[in-house]
Amino acid sequence: MRLLVCGGAGFIGSTFARQRLREHGDEVTVLDKLTYAGREENFHDFAEDPRFRFVRGGIEDPAAVAEAIQAGSPEAIVNFAAETHVDRSIAEPDAFVTTHALGTYVLLEAAREHELRYLQVSTDEVYGSIEQGTFTEESPLCPSSPYSATKTGADLLVQSYFHTYGLPAVICRGSNNYGPYQYPEKLIPLMILNALHGDLLPVYGDGMQVRNWIHCSDFARAIGQVLESGAAGEVYNAGGPDEEANMTVVERIIELTGASESQIEYVKDRPGHDRRYSLSSEKVRALGWEPRVRFQEGLEETVAWYRENAWWWEPIRSGDYRAYYERQYGRALS
Ligand code: NAD
Ligand code: TYD
Repeated sequence: MRLLVCGGAGFIGSTFARQRLREHGDEVTVLDKLTYAGREENFHDFAEDPRFRFVRGGIEDPAAVAEAIQAGSPEAIVNFAAETHVDRSIAEPDAFVTTHALGTYVLLEAAREHELRYLQVSTDEVYGSIEQGTFTEESPLCPSSPYSATKTGADLLVQSYFHTYGLPAVICRGSNNYGPYQYPEKLIPLMILNALHGDLLPVYGDGMQVRNWIHCSDFARAIGQVLESGAAGEVYNAGGPDEEANMTVVERIIELTGASESQIEYVKDRPGHDRRYSLSSEKVRALGWEPRVRFQEGLEETVAWYRENAWWWEPIRSGDYRAYYERQYGRALS
């Protein structure tokens, strides 16, 4: 297949691009704005593949989208492009509205004009928090943060293009991802790098919030499966095989890195913090997908990857991320 992968310079988008090039023989054109989270380093091992192209630009810019479509002549658009960090959405929501609302609209218009299949990558956070049980695709949408609210708006716009114009659009909603190439503002890479550097491990609130962890390679395969065989107009949830409390994740990272318990610091809770996420994946399993990576082994491999790939994270930790970290946590990194 010829694919336009928007946001393909980020964590999951680059995982998906690599998987489609290597395992499916697809042609991949990435359109990415290269925000702080998008990095050409994420293509380092496939940048020279003749079936790969990169166009720099925002999805909210119709000229950039037209250029990428012209360059790659895609059969489908897969949209990963997003602002993805809840804490940043609380501090500065502007870019979340632009990218999720306007950007998704521009891509949908392009898909309509060129008669392309469209897949929107979405999140379990659109359902809000659930104390017990698990969300299905029929659960009501109840987002709590500017991040999840704008992602929900994008999902609704995608569904309107199916209902109104018959656009063959599908949505795939994932639970919390982890794995190589994840920007260290997110829980797991932040804790791994802080643990390795002897920095404090900042746990929000009581640390008993629960997340449903999925390895990025499993989520990327679920997206591929939905792209290939999902029914137009439908939503598919892809949740990971394991749920863990944040404190359990931090304890496990301390064990794997040889850090000290004394590095744990309870910090002020995130405003509006969702307590628990949990997704039922029956519908995507019926298409033939299942997760392959259990959390224990996936976390061990992820810690090993960060240990071995300082070339990837050193420029981040010594760059703008330091200022972000100081604003967010009120202290400097070592
Ligand atoms: P990421 O922050 O690592 O990457 C986002 C990418 O989008 C970056 O390359 C960035 O440069 C690009 N981008 C941002 N705004 C853009 C714009 N206006 N135009 C073009 N490119 C733009 O994010 P990620 O964790 O890889 O998430 C990818 C997608 O998966 C997002 O849609 C996110 O909502 C969804 N998702 C993420 C998770 C998770 O745990 N990370 C879970 C479920 C769903
Ligand atoms: P995060 O990785 O930001 O993902 P999301 O908010 O999308 O679930 O956070 C995962 C969990 O970890 C969430 O409950 C917030 C918590 N957390 C901390 O306790 N400390 C931190 O420094 C960060 C970034 C997150």
